[in-house]
Formats: sequence, C-alpha cells, structure tokens
Amino acid sequence: MLDLGDIQRGVLGPRPSPYAGTYLLLRIHDPVAGREALKRLTPLIASAADLTSPLGDAWLAVALSYQGLKALGVPQASLASFSPEFQQGMAARAAELGDVGANDPNNWEQPFGTPETHLALAVLAPDQTRLHAVLERAQQALRALPGVTAIYRQDCASLPTGREHFGFQDGISQPAIEGTGIPASNPQEAPLKAGEFVLGYGDEWERLAPMPQPEVLGRNGSYVALRKLHQDVAAFRRFLAHHATSAAEEDLLAAKIVGRWRSGAPLALAPERDDPELAADPKRRNAFLYYDDDPKGLKCPLGSHIRRMNPRDHFKDEIVQVNRHRVFRRGQAYGPVLPEGVMEDDGAERGLVFLFVGADLRRQFEFIQREWINQGTFIGAPAERDPLIGPNDGTGIFTIPKQPIRRRLQGLPQFVTMRGGEYFFMPGLKALRWLAELDP
Ligand code: HEM
Repeated sequence: MLDLGDIQRGVLGPRPSPYAGTYLLLRIHDPVAGREALKRLTPLIASAADLTSPLGDAWLAVALSYQGLKALGVPQASLASFSPEFQQGMAARAAELGDVGANDPNNWEQPFGTPETHLALAVLAPDQTRLHAVLERAQQALRALPGVTAIYRQDCASLPTGREHFGFQDGISQPAIEGTGIPASNPQEAPLKAGEFVLGYGDEWERLAPMPQPEVLGRNGSYVALRKLHQDVAAFRRFLAHHATSAAEEDLLAAKIVGRWRSGAPLALAPERDDPELAADPKRRNAFLYYDDDPKGLKCPLGSHIRRMNPRDHFKDEIVQVNRHRVFRRGQAYGPVLPEGVMEDDGAERGLVFLFVGADLRRQFEFIQREWINQGTFIGAPAERDPLIGPNDGTGIFTIPKQPIRRRLQGLPQFVTMRGGEYFFMPGLKALRWLAELDP
C-alpha cells in the first residue's frame, strides 16, 4: 500500500489545467534557521492523499538539494547514502547530460550551477488568486528568518493559447502508477510499480531502489530533476517554413518532429491529418502502442520526440526495458507567447520549467537524456538527436520514414537551450519533520 498521506502531493498529483505556478529557490545560511523554515513550511504542504488539500486545489511542495541537506546539518553518514548523481548536483553531471556548448553550466542563470541553491519551493494552483494565497502563506512562514533567503524566483502560467510555446498541447501522456488511483492515460499500458517513482516500494524488478538513510528520511521521497529550458520559437517556425512548401506541410512536419499534431492528436492514430475530436478525448488520445501497428515509424517517426521519450512496446523482443526508463514529468511554461506569424526572435525569455520525478536519477532521467535525447543509436541512427529538444547545432538530421523513400530534414538547429537546473530530493512529510527536528 502506498502511504499517500506521507507522500507530497507535488510528486503524484495531476497538474491543474489551466495552471499558475511559482518556483522559489532559497539559500540556508544558518542550519537552525533552515530547520525552523522546514518546521513552519511542513504543515502547509499538501499530501498525495489530499487531492483536495486544505488549501483548495492549490498546493505547496518542498525539495532540498544535496547542498541544502548539508546546510541543514544532516549527518555525513546520511548524506553519503544519497545517490552519487544527486550528491554531485546537475552542473557536475554536464558531460553525462550533454550540457555542453550553449547548454554548458557556465552559461546558466545564477544561482543554478552554484552551491548556493539549497531549498526549492513550488506552488501550483489553478489561477493567480489561489497561487498568491498559498505563496503568501509560504512567504509568511519564512518571515523573520534572516538565515534563509530567497535567491531566485520563476513564475510560470499556462499560455493564453492553452499550448506550450511551440504551439503543441502538452501534458497528455503520463505513466500510470499502481496504488495512486489516478487513471492511466494509456489504457493499453499496465500501471507501473510505485517504486519506480517513490522510494521505499518495489519497482518493476520487484526490487527496492537504493534509499537514503535513515529510513525515515528516505521513505516516501523522490528525486527531482529541474531544468529551465529556453525555447527559440522563431527558429522552430523558420525551420518548418524552410522545409515545407505549404502551411499544411508545415503542420505535418511539426507533427512528425513531435509525434503528435499541435492539437495533441497522435500520429500513431491520426497519421494523415489532424483529428481535433480525437485530441479532445482523454480516453483515446493516448491509447496506442507501436510494435504491431507502426514498427517502421511510417506513421510516427522512430526519432520523433514522443517516440524517443517513450518507445512504448517498440522493443518488445529486445533487451531495452522501456519501463525501467519512464519519467513522471511536469512542464510549466514561462514567458510571453511569440505572436503568431513572427519569424524573428524578439529577445524575450520564454520556455518551459521541466520537472522529472522518480526513484533513480541515473537510470531514468540521465539515461533518457544521454541515450534517447542526445543520440539515436537505439533507433539505428547514432548521429541523430531529439529533433525538438536535442542539442543540435545547425547540422542536425531528422529522418522521416516514408515509402517509397524516406525523407531527411537537414540542418537542424538547436531549438531548446538550458538556462539552468538542479537535482533535488523531495522528502515525505515525516522525513521533513525529522529534518526539522535534527539535533546535530
Ligand atoms: C522545452 C522542452 C520540451 C518541450 C517543448 C516538450 C514538448 C512535448 C510535447 C508537445 C509532448 C506531447 C504531449 C504528451 O504526450 O504529453 C511531449 C511528450 C513527452 N515529453 Fe517532452 N518536451 C520538452 C522537454 C522534455 C524533456 C526534457 C523530457 C525528458 C527528459 C521530455 C519527456 C517527454 C515524455 C516522456 C513525453 C511523453 C511521451 C509519451 O509517453 O508518449 N520532454 N513533450
């Protein structure tokens, strides 16, 4: 049984739609103040049992970086029990993650990539009014605590278009997790074991992922990877316009790159033309697999974003264990929409705050980033990268399987650039109380 009352709602709770969100990063200068901050914040955090929390359908989630746990005074033996990637922090993992060139941590916004980021607060709500109410309570809890200071703030909000910045419906496909009661977005996929996402439970191999110690600290916690990703919308539009001879062809190429039409209708079920009715039907729009229906990617290219990120049953007879590399993700848009038809960048900051939540940073998030985003060996095209979010450099290639001959889009630039990120640990509520009461 999942102890939903101890798991933060921020781990499993579905994102409101529409949404408004704020991320605050804080620095702990003084361990006593840091622990006091946790003591005051914990009662405000909604649990996963509370899908309608005491604060309405707006909630606060709290997570700590490795440096943050250190700043609180967590004992060395416990610090050493966290996963090595988490201990190193995201910037130190740049080589593994392909965060080089424009994505290099030296180019990140401060304080990302520095040891200053200790505590992250996330507030999510269906609208600005409810967001401000929760944020105000969280800020109130931190008042008169000079040993804890806010050093970064990122506001997010659903765009007036209802889509992400490149114009696509997002947040459709999510793995179902046993014991949560949240219905599967794909009725053809069995729910995954809770231990893939929350520590202290059996995973897909009936094993327990390594858990930070003592148990009260690790149990019901999850690792989180936060990445602030800038989107170059004008470059995406220019690329489509350059390779297409009509607006309809532009829409098709965009769909081939993502694997879904902008409406959200999947190519796997609507390969020839968009199907807004299908896109609007939550029971059908994610109800597909690839192996029997589209083994060669003639409908949904093997290299498209969604097929890379979740190849589903594509490797049925092979050793690639797709379910060992699933991600529970959250994305929230920031920045203004680039008006329709504008083909030159206006210099505004816009993009997505991407969050991965899971039990194993290396096996899940880092694997996907390294093997499935940054290269294409697994689809038989080692030189190809994710066409939407991969670190392409103007010479990238995207292959669209087609009969009688495939089509190759050349000259892919980089559409998405890292602005900064960090690894966090999102403890269970008992663990937060244990941290607040530490007496080192
Ligand atoms: C600016 C960056 C990104 C954009 C604009 C973006 C956009 C999208 C869109 C439009 C979809 C289709 C909607 C859906 O199936 O829910 C999608 C799906 C998905 N994306 Fe991304 N994405 C971004 C970054 C990432 C990153 C960094 C990861 C993982 C490390 C990721 C993993 C996924 C996964 C797992 C799916 C669902 C695939 C499936 O189950 O079929 N995305 N993304």
